[in-house]
Amino acid sequence: MDKLVIQGGHRLSGAVQASGSKNSALPLMAATLLSNGGAVTLHRIPDLKDIRTFRKLLEYLGVEISDQANTLSISTSNIRCAHAPYELVKQMRASIYVLGPLLARFGHASVSLPGGCAFGPRPIDLHLMTMEKLGASVSIEKGFIEAQVRGKRLKGAQIDFPISSVGATGNALMASVLAEGITTINNAAVEPEIVTLCRFLNAMGADIRGIGTPSLEIEGVQQLNATEFTNIFDRIEAATLLTAGAITGSSITVTDADPSQLTSVLGKLEQTGCRVITDTRSITLQSPDVLSRTDVIANPYPLFPTDMQAQWIALMTQAQGVSHIIDKVYHERFNHIPELNRLGAHIEIKDNEATVYGPEKLTGTKVMSTDLRASACLVLAGLVAEGVTEVLRIYHLDRGYEHIEKKLSSLGAIVKRESYQEFI
Ligand code: UD1
Repeated sequence: MDKLVIQGGHRLSGAVQASGSKNSALPLMAATLLSNGGAVTLHRIPDLKDIRTFRKLLEYLGVEISDQANTLSISTSNIRCAHAPYELVKQMRASIYVLGPLLARFGHASVSLPGGCAFGPRPIDLHLMTMEKLGASVSIEKGFIEAQVRGKRLKGAQIDFPISSVGATGNALMASVLAEGITTINNAAVEPEIVTLCRFLNAMGADIRGIGTPSLEIEGVQQLNATEFTNIFDRIEAATLLTAGAITGSSITVTDADPSQLTSVLGKLEQTGCRVITDTRSITLQSPDVLSRTDVIANPYPLFPTDMQAQWIALMTQAQGVSHIIDKVYHERFNHIPELNRLGAHIEIKDNEATVYGPEKLTGTKVMSTDLRASACLVLAGLVAEGVTEVLRIYHLDRGYEHIEKKLSSLGAIVKRESYQEFI
């Protein structure tokens, strides 16, 4: 296994480029299943474990994929099955994204249930409800979602989501673009990753209106065709890097990042006393001498992202005063707190609210990653902790941060990747 060994206490400086978005790349790759011929070209796809896992799943289905640098060429002409096996789906919950496109294109799909999650229950009821609304029979058999279109094609319908779900909105879009007639989606997620999926589907020939609003209207078309498309930047990676700048009292720039997709995080960084300077393609952060406590509540876009909640808690361990961090998306997503406390932080947790008493001096030790963003939070803490912090089990981190140790090193951090053996 790999670990990151971080020598804390070094200031960062310079500029680093944001990678392509993982959470956007996954639905884009799934949507290629809808294309009827020719190769789809996707640019700015990050080289990450989750992308490789999803690629394996698509290849299992019969999709042919070649890559060069961060570009994938994807051909879906020879798909041989609509069955997503447990062994691949269990590695990544986002595998559920194949449900909608497989059903729309082939009339049936068999997708393993994704299984447990490190940060509490993550139901898929809204994905299933969506497929039923669009005219599929859905049942759970032996741990698999078995979905079958009633009649010849899926049929347009009105889908009212009781809560905002990125994944269910993505699946609803990918299923409805080939459905007969008009589908309306109310309370659709408005995350940039969903906007990007809509734009990609339209580039393939779909007819989606209301893009970027919670009310989407989709007029089904007969078929979609190959296209060439460039993915957006990873707003969570960019925000994590900026937070690395803030926690170390540094000035850094993240390039190839559109600040308009990060208004909530940038606003909160400003409240801590950081100066944020933006142009259309880059974000510079200048840290204050003393960080001020700043409360956040994680909520769907455009509010503060749950995927930055853990990193924010790490930052607040270094801020002056008591801060409160509430997660309204995932109420149990707080596995990082005991590990931060082992580094010397003083954080209390009650229900879905963390109270951080800052500033506390952190001291390096071994800490364990438990999920993707928790790992990022421990890396941030390691950057400011006195001495050496070893972040173990960084396979979680590798799911979502492209070449993270290289990026941090290029900014002046002392970070090394080493392999180690775990004693069980
Ligand atoms: C996506 C992101 C993830 C991020 C999350 C919230 C990807 C690959 N992952 O996950 O990084 O943390 O959005 O921004 O893009 N829910 C239900 N029933 C469902 C589906 C969801 O109750 O059928 C609930 C979830 O438990 C959660 C909320 O809806 O409380 C939002 O989840 P959702 O937006 O669906 O998250 P994902 O798409 O899984």
